[in-house]
Formats: sequence, structure tokens, C-alpha cells
Amino acid sequence: MTEADDRTATSQTRSSARFWDRMAARYAKRPITDQAAYETKLRITRDHLRHDMQVLELGCGTGSTAIAHAPYVAHIRATDISPMMIEIARAKAAESGIANVAFECVAVEDIAVPDESFDAVLALNLLHLVEDRDAAIARVAALLKPGGAFVTSTACLADGMKWFRLVAPIGRFFGVIPLVRIFGKADLEGSLTRGGFTIVQEWQPKNNAAVFIVAVKDTGAD
Ligand SMILES: C[S@@+](CC[C@H](N)C(=O)[O-])C[C@H]1O[C@@H](n2cnc3c(N)ncnc32)[C@H](O)[C@@H]1O
Repeated sequence: MTEADDRTATSQTRSSARFWDRMAARYAKRPITDQAAYETKLRITRDHLRHDMQVLELGCGTGSTAIAHAPYVAHIRATDISPMMIEIARAKAAESGIANVAFECVAVEDIAVPDESFDAVLALNLLHLVEDRDAAIARVAALLKPGGAFVTSTACLADGMKWFRLVAPIGRFFGVIPLVRIFGKADLEGSLTRGGFTIVQEWQPKNNAAVFIVAVKDTGAD
């Protein structure tokens, strides 16, 4: 985050930024857990992308997904709360010769861009990490053009990992677990629907708590 961003961030987002900064180098080196599932998500996402599109990615981490989608769209604004993640992402994009991705260190909560700026928004492995997912979804709805696609992959821990609720506060106390909100798939679907989206695709890889959803912003027409 810049100094200006830091003044607006809550103590919670500052502590998330510090956690993810500590994780960044390890996260960059870590192999993708399920390569086949990752590629399926890239493929499904691409069905919703076009070469003239302006795309926003929230919580882009070390930039791999933005770099992978860059050749298929006009421009990607890829954002993350962690300066270290963004530094690694910029280096990876430069190494790959990708010129149409702008990486920016900013929290979801603080994105200051005019409404209806984007054709698609990506938030992969993020919505369970933000303080207020309904507020984040409302912000995404405002930033998307009507009919724009919101592509998410979200750990729905209340459905399968109930024990996580017990260990999370201890892990957070010792700084080994970030802020994680525990909710189920039905809660997430409800948030998206209430937020003005229609879910058009949903997929959950086997043995994985993350639910992959493509939702389209309602146009307001009946
Ligand atoms: C689990 S990683 C996922 C990274 C990448 N999207 C992926 O799928 O590999 C979560 C990312 O979200 C970022 N993050 C966490 N809270 C955030 C917030 N409030 N605003 C923006 N980014 C956030 C972290 O810094 C981290 O890079």
C-alpha cells in the first residue's frame, strides 16, 4: 500500500497486508495444488473474456492469473493489498513480456475507480479473506458494467471444514493464519444474488473447499 492507502486502511486490512507480505516469497514458489482444476478455471474464465475488454483483478497475489489472461483481453488492472505480492507480480510480468497488465497495491475496500469501468472482475481465492464480503460484492457490482462478469473462487469453509472455526483464532493470534471468514456456499450464493448478480456457472473441484462461480451483473431490465 502507498502511504495514502495506509491512512485509509483499517487496522484489519493493514494486518492482512502484513500477513500476505510475509507469505509472498513462499506463495510465489509454491506449486499449484491442483493444476488440472486451475486450468479448468482459466478455460471457463476465458469463455467470458473478449479482446476488447477492460478487466479488474482483486487479490491478484503474485500475478500468475492476470499474466495468463493478459493475451485474451485489452487491459487488466491487477490489484492486491500486499506490496510484496505486487512487487513479485510486476517482476513476473516484465519477465514474461506482458505489457497490458497494470499492477497496483490497494485493498478491495479502497479501490477508487469510476463506477461501470470494467467488463469483467476476477476475485480468485479472496472473498473469504475480506472483512465484509457483502460490501466487497457491492463494490464489484458498482465497478462492473451491466452484464459484466464476476469470476470468483471462494473457500466455503462452513460446508466441510467446521474444525477450522476452532483453530482460526489461535492461528491468527500466532500470525500463521490470516483473517478468514467462515461461511457456506449457500451464504455466498445469497450474497451474490442480493448484490445484483445472476449466477451463470458454478463448479467445485473434488476434495476442494473452493467454489468457482461466474456471476453476471444484472442489467436492470426485466
Ligand atoms: C490466497 S491469496 C490468492 C492470490 C491469487 N488470487 C491466487 O488465486 O493465487 C489471497 C490474496 O488476496 C490478497 N488480499 C487479502 N485481503 C485483501 C484485501 N482486503 N484486498 C485486496 N487483496 C487482499 C492477499 O494479499 C493475497 O495476495
